[in-house]
Amino acid sequence: MEQQKRYGHFDDEHREYVITDPKTPWPWINYLGNEDFFSLISNTAGGYSFYKDAKFRRITRYRYNNVPMDNGGRYFYIKDGDTVWNPGWKPCKTPLDFYECRHGMSYTRITGKKNGVEASVLFFVPLKKWAEVQKLTLKNESAETKSLKLFSFEEWGLWNPATDMENFQRNFSTGEVEIETTVHEGSPSGATIYHKTEYRERRNHYAFYHVNVPVQGYDTDRETFVGLYNEFANPDAVMEGKPRNSHAHGWSPIASHYIEVTLAPGESKDFVFLLGYIENEQDKKFEAPQVINKEKAHALISELDTTEKVDKAFAELNAYWDALLNIYKVKTGNDKLDRMVNIWNQYQCMVTFNFSRSASFFESGVGRGMGFRDSNQDLVGFVHQIPPRARQRIIDIASTQFPDGGCYHQYQPLTKRGNNDIGGGFNDDPCWLIFGTVAYIKETGDFSILDEMVPFDNQPGTEVTLFEHLKISLNHVINNLGPHMLPLIGRADWNDCLNLNCFSWDPNESFQTTENVSEGTKAESLMIAGLFVVTGKEYVTLCEKIGKHDEAARMQKAVDAMIEAVKKHGWDGEWYLRAYDFYGRKIGSNECEEAKIFIESQGWCTMAEIGAEDGMVAKSLDSCKKYLECEHGMVLNNPAFTKYIYEYGEISSYPEGYKENASIFCHNNPWVIIGEGLAGRGNDAWSHYAKILPSYVEEKYQTLHKVEPYVNCQMVAGKDAFRPGEGKNSWLTGTAAWMWYTVSEFILGIKPDYDGIRIDPCLPETAGDYTVTRRFRDAEYDITIHPNGQQKGVKSIVLDGSPIEGTVIPYSTGHHHIEVTM
Ligand code: GLC
Ligand code: GLC
Repeated sequence: MEQQKRYGHFDDEHREYVITDPKTPWPWINYLGNEDFFSLISNTAGGYSFYKDAKFRRITRYRYNNVPMDNGGRYFYIKDGDTVWNPGWKPCKTPLDFYECRHGMSYTRITGKKNGVEASVLFFVPLKKWAEVQKLTLKNESAETKSLKLFSFEEWGLWNPATDMENFQRNFSTGEVEIETTVHEGSPSGATIYHKTEYRERRNHYAFYHVNVPVQGYDTDRETFVGLYNEFANPDAVMEGKPRNSHAHGWSPIASHYIEVTLAPGESKDFVFLLGYIENEQDKKFEAPQVINKEKAHALISELDTTEKVDKAFAELNAYWDALLNIYKVKTGNDKLDRMVNIWNQYQCMVTFNFSRSASFFESGVGRGMGFRDSNQDLVGFVHQIPPRARQRIIDIASTQFPDGGCYHQYQPLTKRGNNDIGGGFNDDPCWLIFGTVAYIKETGDFSILDEMVPFDNQPGTEVTLFEHLKISLNHVINNLGPHMLPLIGRADWNDCLNLNCFSWDPNESFQTTENVSEGTKAESLMIAGLFVVTGKEYVTLCEKIGKHDEAARMQKAVDAMIEAVKKHGWDGEWYLRAYDFYGRKIGSNECEEAKIFIESQGWCTMAEIGAEDGMVAKSLDSCKKYLECEHGMVLNNPAFTKYIYEYGEISSYPEGYKENASIFCHNNPWVIIGEGLAGRGNDAWSHYAKILPSYVEEKYQTLHKVEPYVNCQMVAGKDAFRPGEGKNSWLTGTAAWMWYTVSEFILGIKPDYDGIRIDPCLPETAGDYTVTRRFRDAEYDITIHPNGQQKGVKSIVLDGSPIEGTVIPYSTGHHHIEVTM
C-alpha cells in the first residue's frame, strides 16, 4: 500500500491532534463540555450545542448530510477590503495562507491566516458552566494598519431538532429574540442576543450569544442577514459589509454581532464570545411583560467576559484533564501505544460516557437515548476517573429495569426515563448491569452501592436494593432458556441486528421494534450464554465476598449448567455456534451456506473459557484468525450474507462487508483479544489489537480510513466490502471502553480487584520493560514490568522492596513501588 495523503498529526506533548488541511476526507470532530452543556465541533467549526439532551434541548441548529457537507456552526466572517474569509476555512472557503485546527481535551483551537491577519479561535465549555466560550484573537502581522469588519454567526435551533426539521407550519411563526446592545445599569458590557422561542408558554429556558465589546450592528433574522437565495458562504450583510440590525419575528432566528476592528501593525485584540443557556424558576420567568428575566444570563456573562477570566477557566479545564489522565499512565517507549493509552483512548471513553450513542456526525441526536448495555459498557472506560458519576450512572440505569429483570433498551438522559419507542426485550441487556457494577466496586471498594434502594421503571414505591437488581438480572436469563437450555435471544442480543424473532417483509417497520413472533420461539443466543457465564462468575465471586454463600452456590450451579449446555449444544467442531433460529436451526455453523462463523460467540465463550480444558478455546481463537481476520481487523461474520434472510432480520439487510454484516465491527474485536489474553497468546492478542488501534491506522490510511484518526470508529468496512478499510460511525462506540479495558487490564495487565491490584499482563514476545503509574483509591502504585520475552505468567512481584505471594498487590494507602518479573 503506497503512502497515503496525510491531513494531520499527533502532538503528544499538548495532547492534541493537529489538522493541517481543512479538506479532511470527512469532517473530523471534537467534543466540548463535560457535564451539562455540550458541543460538537468539526475542524471547520461546524456542529452544534445542546443542554444535556441532544433530542430535547438543542440550542443551535445543524444540517445533517447536507451539500456541502457539515453545514451550520459557529462562524466568524472577516471582511478585509474585498476579501471575506473564515479562520476555519468554511463556509466561505476562501483559500487561506495558513490553516490549523488543534483538537485537544475538551477544547478546539482553529487558526487561519489571510493577507497578514491571523485569526485564532479557542472553543471550550468551562467546567460547571452552561456556556461555550469562543475566544477570538485577531492579530495584524502585516506592516500596514488593518481595518476589518467582523461578523459572528450562530443559528438558533428551536429546541427540539426533530420538530425543528419538519414542523414548519408552526416553526416559521414562533421564533422570538431580544437584543441588548447598549449598556444599562446591571447589564454587562458588550452585546447580547437572546433566543426565547416558546419561552412565552411552557419553556423556562432561553439561550444567548454575547460578545464582550460594544458592537456597531447586529442581525437576528436569517433571511435578512443571508439573503434568501444566498448561502452561508456569501451572506448579503457580510458581503456588503453592512449589518441590517434585523429583529427576528418568526422564520429563522439567528445571532450575529457586527464589530469594526482596527489593528496597527503587530497589534492583536481578543474578543470573548459566549453562547450560553439559562433556566429560570417558573415565577421568575419575566422581568416585565414579555421581557425575559436576564439576571442569570448577566451573572454568567460577568464570569466570562474578559480574556483573564476566560484564560483562567481554560487553565482549570486543562488541570481537570491533567488530573483525570494522571490516574493511569503507561510508559512503554512505543509512542503509538502510549498516546492511545494515556490520551486518546481515555478521552474517547469520557466522550462515550457523556454522549452514549446520541450525538455525533453519524448519530443525529434525535434517534437514540442512552443504551442500557452501552452505558454499562462505557462505564468500564471511565470508572477509574470519576467513580461518583459512575455510581450515579449505575443507579440511573438500574432504575429503568422491570421487576422481572428485563429492562428498557434505552433511556433519555434529561428525564432518565425508559424509552417507550423502543421498549425492552433485548435479552442480553440485564447481564450488563453486573458487568458495570462489579467494575465500579472493584475500582472503589464501595460495596455500599449494593444497598442503594433502586426503583423499577422509575416508579416510586417499588424500590429494592441494587443487589436485588443484579440478582434478577441474571434470573432473567435463567428464566428465559430455550430448548437447548441456552438463553432465548428476544428481540436481539448484543448484535442489535440479529433479529431472530422478527419476520419482516415491510420496509416501513423497524427490525427491532416490530411486533415479533417470539411466542413459541426456539431462538437462542450463544453470545448471551458466554456473557452469562462471564457475569455469572463475577456475581458468584461478589456474593462470596459479601457473605451470601447460598446465593453464590445457587448461581454457580446455573453457570455450570450453562457451560454444559454450551459444550453440548453450542460447539460446532472448530468454533462456537452463534445461535439457534426461531425453528431451532443452527446459525454460525459450518453447515450454514453463509455466515458460517460469527465473532461474538467466539469472543464471549473464550472470555468465559468454556471448554478450555477440551481445547475449545484454542480452536475457536485459531478459527478467528483463519476465517475472520483481515488486514484491518476481524470481521463480524464470514462469509458475509449475500441475500436477505428474513428469519435473521436486519443483519442480512446490509450489503456485504458493512455494519453487522461482516464489517470489522471494532467493538467486538477486543472480546477475542481478551480471549487470546486469557489463553496466554500474547503475540496474537497484540496483532489483533494493533490492527484496530487508531494510531497505527493513522500512520497508514488517513484517506482510506476517512474518519478521525485519533479515535476508534464503530465499524471499518470488512474484506467483502467494496472499499475494505473505510471507517464509519466514529466516536460513539463501545469500542472505546472495550479497547481501554483490553489494553489496561489484559495486555498491560493492571486489573483492579476487590482487595488490591492484580497484575497479569499478556504481551507480545517483543515487548520491552514498561512502567504503569496507577492511582487506585487512596494509593498510588508505580509498577515496572520486566516481560523477559514472556507472553504470559508473572514469576515474582516485589512490593516496596519485599517479595509478595501471588499476583495481587494488596491495597494500602500511600505511594508504592512494584517490580514485576515475568
Ligand atoms: C451499536 C449499538 C450497540 C450494539 C451494536 C451491535 O453499536 O449501540 O448497542 O450492541 O451496535 O449491534
Ligand atoms: C441499527 C444499527 C445498529 C444499531 C441499532 C440501534 O440496527 O445497524 O448498529 O445498534 O440500529 O438500534
